[in-house]
Amino acid sequence: MAIFGIIGAGNIGRNLSLALLARGHQVVIANSQGPQTLTALVEDLGPGARAATAEEAAAAGQYAVVAIPLPATQAVPVAPLTGKIVIDTCNYFPDRLGHVTRIDDGTITVPGLLQEHLPLSKVVRAFNHIDAGKIPTDGTPAGTRDRRALGLAGDDVSARTFVAGLYDELGFDAVDLGPLAESWRLDAGQPTFVVRQNADQLKANAAVAKR
Ligand SMILES: NC(=O)c1ccc[n+]([C@@H]2O[C@H](COP(=O)([O-])OP(=O)(O)OC[C@H]3O[C@@H](n4cnc5c(N)ncnc54)[C@H](OP(=O)(O)O)[C@@H]3O)[C@@H](O)[C@H]2O)c1
Repeated sequence: MAIFGIIGAGNIGRNLSLALLARGHQVVIANSQGPQTLTALVEDLGPGARAATAEEAAAAGQYAVVAIPLPATQAVPVAPLTGKIVIDTCNYFPDRLGHVTRIDDGTITVPGLLQEHLPLSKVVRAFNHIDAGKIPTDGTPAGTRDRRALGLAGDDVSARTFVAGLYDELGFDAVDLGPLAESWRLDAGQPTFVVRQNADQLKANAAVAKR
C-alpha cells in the first residue's frame, strides 16, 4: 500500500484515484479551491480517500500525481515534492488554454515544464494519452492477449521503473520511451494519443510520431 498525493480533482484525478483505491492504495486529493469543496468527491471515492490542500496532498503522498490544466503548473507546491516521483498527466491544448512559446518551438516538452518547476523531483509523464474514464476500466491482468499499453517518459530511470510497475499493477503494459526529451511522442495529436494500443502498436506509433 502506498499513499498518492493527487493534485487536481477533475476527470483524471477522480479516475486515477478510483484505480489506485481499487488496488488498496490511499489517495489524498486536492484542487485549488480547498478540501471543503471536495466532500462529495471523497464520499464517492470511498474509504482510503481524503481531501486536502495541494500543499498537504503533496506532503502526504509518497508519490504525487499532477492532473491540472497546464497553465496551472506554476501553482504546484515545490518543497513538499522534493525528491519524490511526480506523475505528470498534463497535456498541451494551445487553442483552448493558450500558447507556450517554448513548447511551440520545441525547446521544452510539456512535462518538461513541470520538471523545470520541480527541479528536485522526479517527473514522469504517464496516463496522459488515455481517456480518464478508461483508467479504472481498461486494465487487464499481465499476459492478457492484446493488453492495452500506456507510455511513459522521464529523466530518472528508477522513477520510470516505478511508473512501469504501477502501470502493470493497474492493468496496463508499459512502454518506456526514455527521457523527458522523448515525451512529445505522447503529445495530443500524435498517433499514440488516446487510441487503444497494445505494446507493439504503441511502440510503432511512437516511432512514427512527428514533432
Ligand atoms: N480528461 C482526460 O481524459 C484526460 C486524459 C489525459 C490527460 N488529461 C490531462 O490531465 C490534466 C487534467 O485533466 P482533467 O480532465 O482531469 O481536467 P479537469 O477535469 O478540468 O480537472 C482539473 C482539476 O485541476 C484542479 N486545479 C486547477 N488548478 C489547480 C491548482 N492550481 N491546484 C490544484 N488543483 C487545481 C481543478 O479544480 P479547481 O479548478 O476547482 O481548482 C480540477 O479539479 C489536463 O492537463 C489534461 O490535459 C486529461
